[in-house]
Amino acid sequence: MGVGRGEDGRLILLSAPLALFPGEQVEALVRWKPRHGEGQVTAWTRRDPRRVRAGCPLAGICGGCSQWEAGPLAGALKREMVADLLARQLPGAPPWRWLEAPQSARRHRIQLHWNGRELGFHRRDSHTVVPVAGCPAAAEPLSRAIPRLKEALEARVLSPKSQRWELAAGTPAGEVSAVAEDGRCWRLEPDGWHPASGPVSHNFGPALLRHRAGGFFQVCPDWAWSAFGEILGAWSLPGGTLFDLYGGVGFFSALLGGRFRQRILVENDEAAVEWARANLAALGLEALCLAADVPEWVSPGLGAADDLILLDPPRTGLTPELCEKLQTAGAGSMVLVGCDGAAFCRDLGRLAPAWELKELAVADLFPLTEHVEAVALLCKQHP
Ligand SMILES: C[S@@+](CC[C@H](N)C(=O)[O-])C[C@H]1O[C@@H](n2cnc3c(N)ncnc32)[C@H](O)[C@@H]1O
Repeated sequence: MGVGRGEDGRLILLSAPLALFPGEQVEALVRWKPRHGEGQVTAWTRRDPRRVRAGCPLAGICGGCSQWEAGPLAGALKREMVADLLARQLPGAPPWRWLEAPQSARRHRIQLHWNGRELGFHRRDSHTVVPVAGCPAAAEPLSRAIPRLKEALEARVLSPKSQRWELAAGTPAGEVSAVAEDGRCWRLEPDGWHPASGPVSHNFGPALLRHRAGGFFQVCPDWAWSAFGEILGAWSLPGGTLFDLYGGVGFFSALLGGRFRQRILVENDEAAVEWARANLAALGLEALCLAADVPEWVSPGLGAADDLILLDPPRTGLTPELCEKLQTAGAGSMVLVGCDGAAFCRDLGRLAPAWELKELAVADLFPLTEHVEAVALLCKQHP
């Protein structure tokens, strides 16, 4: 993503198949809205000399990554993009912390598409399949499993029907699972794929977290564990009840461990809730884990002064109704996590009448893409 100006000076939000450097000139297909344009870059007319040769033959073709040509400057470019967004959307925000991704961070989940002949990723902005033999953005074992999956589909060892497949690896990345659209799962062994029902396991040293293959988990799990640990560890959090909302299999409850007297986790995926119960119990962390819809479950006045409401919603962010209910919360602190910068800033704006922004951090949890994870600590304002 980038921000540009048209020839008449109007602002254009640009999406590009390869990184955009400040000062570059591009051609773009632009759809004009009343006050700005939204464009897709089609060609570069002035390229930044710092561009590097992409480390992936599909850079700019498949829809997965957009930063290959930025090479070692990718982190700095993303930081500039975030700075620009925050300056426009959150003027007056406190200084924010940036956590750059380590070079070693790789994806532990990738989605492939089989069309009956080819196995690959979706072409950018399209549903056609671009065949792939490996993926340098994924953890090694996942990348090596791609041709093994293709062989099994061609040989009809696995269902040859056209569909989406997820390949997932635990932490450290070793065992690989392939999950079909109907949720059926196979594990890759040296002699091929075997039906499997066991979970994917992530060993973070102090904590072991498990989830059903195909269920949500952090894309770069070990990097996410250390980045969130660094961010939250540096902030002053209370110690009463942790409301871990949109809690998945207990990632944040486990990460914050014994810092809270008790925890209540709410998540609408029942299988994830079962795993959250097991994960937190194995860590000796007492937790009430509930399968429920967060906006419905939250009641006005939620929590007490020594409690923390932690919200990690999907990309779309919080609903207006939920923001409304949170205005009356009794909890003294809130952490908001968001992987869509615009939705995150919008939600901070909606919460602002009752919640003061105290701390802000942004981590590059999705290396090689234009996405980032933003985290905010808010403090309840007393009327
Ligand atoms: C971004 S993920 C975060 C999961 C968890 N915090 C983690 O870090 O692993 C969002 C989670 O919210 C759940 N979810 C989505 N909509 C929900 C809703 N309306 N109510 C409760 N949970 C929801 C999803 O199933 C998913 O597990």
